[in-house]
Amino acid sequence: MPSETCDVVVLLSGSGSNLQALIDSTRAGDSPVRIRAVISNRADAYGLQRARDAGIDTVVLDHKAFDGREAFDQALIERIDAFSPQLVVLAGFMRILSAGFVRHYEGRLLNIHPSLLPKYKGLHTHQRALEAGDHEHGCSVHFVTEELDGGPLVVQAVIPVAADDTPESLAQRVHAQEHQIYPLAVRWFAEGRLRLEEHGALLDGQTLAASGHLIRP
Ligand code: GAR
Repeated sequence: MPSETCDVVVLLSGSGSNLQALIDSTRAGDSPVRIRAVISNRADAYGLQRARDAGIDTVVLDHKAFDGREAFDQALIERIDAFSPQLVVLAGFMRILSAGFVRHYEGRLLNIHPSLLPKYKGLHTHQRALEAGDHEHGCSVHFVTEELDGGPLVVQAVIPVAADDTPESLAQRVHAQEHQIYPLAVRWFAEGRLRLEEHGALLDGQTLAASGHLIRP
């Protein structure tokens, strides 16, 4: 374990395969990343079980129990900050976050999205890429800003679309790439190599291109 660790809180709503990839990556002896807690707005999210299996603290905060987005987000901030994380990671957290929440974590809030942003913000990204006849598709890690699925890009994995791809086959290959690029971006942040500045995301002191760091596996 390195002497300097980066405490991370992960937010999710579902299966948590990206959480699993992060957990697996932290098992490398030299990882500076320490997942302090996993918080879900859904009690039945399988990601919570993955966290428990790994001995990570879990919190359930049901958004339906709150009177509006601001109240939920304020309670969420309190739960997250109880763990004093340096970084908050959205891993399939299917809630739109309020401006106040996003501002509170400015520069230390990452998200992963299953498309080559800025294309296909929102849902059904694989189907939309197929319907558009795209030859390439992929996934993106970005710093979160107030714009939904916006914010400076950190890294994208680009894969070819095959003629016989279905939304399901494409989703499967994109997911496999998510599991590569999210641990990579989190590690960069934990190592102090990645940060957000006024003009965009910086990696090793260099401003990243608009597309972020591109990986073509
Ligand atoms: C992932 O594909 C992630 O990119 C997507 O949710 C899925 C969660 O999968 N996130 C978004 O669409 C955010 N806009 P997982 O629970 O297996 O990690």
